[in-house]
Amino acid sequence: MVRLEGVAKRFGDHLAVDHVDVAVDRGAFLTILGPSGSGKTTVLRMIAGFIQPDSGAITINGRSVADDPPYARSIGMVFQRLALFPHMTAAENVAYPLKMRGWTKGDLSARVERFLDLVRLSGLGQRRIQQLSGGQQQRVAIARALVFEPDLLLLDEPLAALDRKLREDMQLEFRRIQQELGVTTINVTHDQREALVMSDQVMVMDNGKIHQHAPPTEAYKRPADRFVAGFIGITNFVDATLVGRTDDGRATVTIHDQTFEGRIADRTIEAGVDVVAALRAEKVHVVNGDHDEGLDAVIAETVFEGDRLVYRLHVEPWPGQPLLAFDYAQHEAMPRTVGEQVRVSWRPEDLMIFPP
Ligand SMILES: Nc1ncnc2c1ncn2[C@@H]1O[C@H](COP(=O)(O)OP(=O)(O)OP(=O)(O)O)[C@@H](O)[C@H]1O
Ligand SMILES: [Mg+2]
Repeated sequence: MVRLEGVAKRFGDHLAVDHVDVAVDRGAFLTILGPSGSGKTTVLRMIAGFIQPDSGAITINGRSVADDPPYARSIGMVFQRLALFPHMTAAENVAYPLKMRGWTKGDLSARVERFLDLVRLSGLGQRRIQQLSGGQQQRVAIARALVFEPDLLLLDEPLAALDRKLREDMQLEFRRIQQELGVTTINVTHDQREALVMSDQVMVMDNGKIHQHAPPTEAYKRPADRFVAGFIGITNFVDATLVGRTDDGRATVTIHDQTFEGRIADRTIEAGVDVVAALRAEKVHVVNGDHDEGLDAVIAETVFEGDRLVYRLHVEPWPGQPLLAFDYAQHEAMPRTVGEQVRVSWRPEDLMIFPP
């Protein structure tokens, strides 16, 4: 449905988007996830037609849009800063794109009703924008972006200004509406949770480049590189040396002269080089100090986060490389205390080896 091939954009001497290739299937929900300044909005603005790529091609429905101005592309948009008309009612805001397209009053009001209904604002159509809450305003913006049934919906951090609870509700709401209408959607965010919750596909971007394009579970379980492993989830990184590897992706590394088994996806690196071993905080098992297996460690800090306890650990054989571990299960019965001697371990398949 949407395809970008070798799309690049330079601002002055800064390459904001660095030869991006991406394809989005009809009806799919893609989220572009990346830190501030990584080029996410620039990608969206090129798809919308507000700026032109320096090189590469963008096609929508199999046709190049290079010569189409923004209004000629069938695209609905919702941005972080809402561009609602404050002097109009919710219903007038939603009706606006239809009026622009020459709809007559009769057809128009039924359609507006239907879309206010879809975003669960039935009965609030006559309110002015200032008389609505932040989340309600957001839903007016969604209805307005979708009311003319565009081929494509572009979302640029539309939930960023909302408080956490409302944002999480709206993420599910967005997903519901998107699935109900089946509209192809490209969403932009720097919030990893939002990307994982809402999307069929996640594209992780940094510095204008795509690091990984995969379904959310894949990006989480099998991050393509160190950047993705650090950006999605809470991950510990420890310096290591690669000792050996097998063709099926198993690796042996040394960390402070001790040998560990892990897994490696990168095919380019060879034995003997410096690597980084990555271990997600929820994969670190903390057991009592008299346990047989694992490395000796001391609890340096505990943080209560409601559903889990976070331990910061000093691992005795790894001076200067503290380890974070999440404890979801046992902390209510028996929380560990600062200074307690413990042992830490993990499964070999959870130790991910990357180029540094
Ligand atoms: N019109 C412009 N002129 C010059 N530089 C620009 C322009 N627009 C964007 N940039 C630069 O291009 C890079 C990418 O910007 P972009 O807005 O795409 O980032 P982003 O990933 O959307 O970030 P954020 O999460 O902060 O919105 C940044 O370094 C930004 O400063
Ligand atoms: Mg942006």
